[in-house]
Amino acid sequence: MILSCFMFHFQATLGFFALPTEPSNIVESLITNLIILLGAILLTSGEDGRSRAEQLLHILRQLDPYVSASAEHQRRRGCVAVHEVLVKFRNLCSGGFGASGSYPTLSLKHIDQGGPRGSSSLPSAFVLPNRDSLSLGERIMAYLPRCADTDDEVRKVAIQIIALFFNISLSLPKQKTSANDIDLESSYGALSSLEDIVSIIRRASVDQIEVFHRVVSSVCTLLSKDEVDNIS
Ligand SMILES: *[C@@H]1O[C@H](CO)[C@@H](O)[C@H](O)[C@H]1NC(C)=O
Repeated sequence: MILSCFMFHFQATLGFFALPTEPSNIVESLITNLIILLGAILLTSGEDGRSRAEQLLHILRQLDPYVSASAEHQRRRGCVAVHEVLVKFRNLCSGGFGASGSYPTLSLKHIDQGGPRGSSSLPSAFVLPNRDSLSLGERIMAYLPRCADTDDEVRKVAIQIIALFFNISLSLPKQKTSANDIDLESSYGALSSLEDIVSIIRRASVDQIEVFHRVVSSVCTLLSKDEVDNIS
């Protein structure tokens, strides 16, 4: 009930991302709490992996205007929020859907007891979303321009977001028959190259054009043909 009321005001609430940076102590803690709330919405909504993936996409699409805002601080907040929500989603994927229960505070106890093992006898609540439900082509196109952002914090988080998306997608089953157009070996190579870029991006000596070039080339390897076809 409380959650559905909140969802009703979801868009209005995200408007806080547009607040100015001052007074910084108040605004920063508000933004932090808002990001925690987004993670909680993801954890408490949906009964199985599939509906959680839908919820994830809903949240991410609502964040798009901030991710691409002209104000630097809004882009920073948008990207940090996307990253946090994705980390939560990845934890759900690796902990097993449903295993964490409806409330995040119960998760540790429940994961200890159950976990994703013996999945054949598990109810549908444990069903993983498939890779196709992430709309990877669309999502990567939302974050790729940020990898060449003028702000270095935005650039770094954007590359982390893209690496996380592929980290998650490689752990998910693929639905379409074109599953075999993903070469796993080169995918893992491209993903670890993305992670390497994240670790060096802050160095002053790093050529930003070269960094962007490497990100694009990893993305080209990681996206399947049908994901690229779906971008337009
Ligand atoms: C994804 O990230 C987790 C945690 O860092 C790691 O254990 C896992 O191996 C990664 N998966 C891939 C496919 O790189």
